[in-house]
This record gives sequence, structure tokens and C-alpha cells, in this order.
Amino acid sequence: IPSVNEARADDLINKTVLVIDVLRATSTMLTALAHGCRAIYPVETVLQARQLQQPGYVLGGERACKKIPGFDYGNSPFEYMDDRIAGKHLIITTTNGTRAIQKSSKACTVIAASLLNGKACAREAAALNKDIVILCSGTQDVFSFEDGICAGQLVGELQSLLKDRGTEWSVNDFGLSMLYAFQQVQSDITRALMNCSNGKRLCKLGFTDDVIYCSRLNLIQMAPVVRGGKLSAPLVD
Ligand code: MLT
Repeated sequence: IPSVNEARADDLINKTVLVIDVLRATSTMLTALAHGCRAIYPVETVLQARQLQQPGYVLGGERACKKIPGFDYGNSPFEYMDDRIAGKHLIITTTNGTRAIQKSSKACTVIAASLLNGKACAREAAALNKDIVILCSGTQDVFSFEDGICAGQLVGELQSLLKDRGTEWSVNDFGLSMLYAFQQVQSDITRALMNCSNGKRLCKLGFTDDVIYCSRLNLIQMAPVVRGGKLSAPLVD
């Protein structure tokens, strides 16, 4: 599904939903978990984040790509790469990514996907044996290129996994288009992300390293799953 506003909550019932926000929410959440963050609570509003806070919990997220006043962390993956996050509970709110996760609440399983963990997510989703919806967060209800590229990566990974297993499968035309788009830019994903509108916006704001990092394929072998409003990290390998 190209963007959140095109996803009807009821269409997600009994499905495995892979939620993507490459720049940067799902990439950042994954990075925090890979650096020992205990659990993440993705919420829609700043108020909800503040209301959930309790001792031992930290607040993270962004509005207009910038850290929210009074919060401990922003939305750059680099902020979540040291020991400070280890063992912590993180409450996070971002403009689009956490909203897409909330929107998926009727799904059977929700997995946070990005280019950084596409392969692990495809494996986890295939193992669950349900219909799979790939939901691109997009930006303010509009399709974002980088999420589409990641959708294509996921379709490609799923295609080879299901083929190996001899499972019959099909994909809609949007998924197929994204697979071909992914194949087209696969040899230089960083350059492709630098050229798309969110990539350009982040570079302009000084987050070039974030765009480069978020463009790396399969750096992290983990497919975080949302359970009871909480995202945590079952290791795939
Ligand atoms: C979002 O959820 O809207 C994004 O992650 C924004 C950002 O890159 O900070």
C-alpha cells in the first residue's frame, strides 16, 4: 500500500503487516533495538508520549525532522547507537512512521521494516504464513520514494523465499512496480535516496549521514514485532 491514507484498518485484519518508514522512523527504531533498547512504544502525539512517561523510560522523536523540546532523543539513528539506550524503554513519536504503526493495530502481526533489515523482515513474515501487507508510511499521506524502494526489496526477498519453499504467491501491481524500481536502483541505493525529496530535505537539514546509513541493505538481522503497543526485538538468526 503506497501510503497510510490508502490503508483501511479493516483490510489489515488477520494479515501480517510490514510497516516501512525508511527516512527515518523504522530505521531509527530498529537501530535503537539493535543497540540494546529494551522496548519501544510508538505513539501518535507528543501528549501521548508525555503521558506514558515513567521512571526508566526515555522520550524520543521528531516534528519537522527536529527533536521535540524536552525530549531525550530526536529521530536520528546515530543518537541511538551508544550504550545510553541499552536497557531503556523508549517512547517515540514521529510525524509519519509511528502513525503508520498505530494505523496497523488491527493486523495480526506488525513488523517494523526498513532497508536495514529487509531480509530479516521477509523471513519473519514468510514464516508467519499469513497474507502480507506492505504499508509505506509515506510523508503526510503522500507516497515516498524510499519507502517504495524498501517495499520492492521486501517483495524481492519474499519472492525468492516463497519460490524456494514451493509456495504459490502473487503480488499486486504496486508491489510489482516497486520490485522493478528497487532492481533499477539496487546498485546505488544511497544515490537514489539522496535524490528523493525526503533524502534531499534531510541532507539540507544536516542529516546526510542519516540518509547514507538508512540506505544500507540488510545491515541488521532483526525483525522487530509490535505486541500490545510495544515494539521489541526477536532475533531472526
Ligand atoms: C517520520 O516518521 O515522519 C520521519 O521519520 C521523519 C524524520 O525523518 O524525522
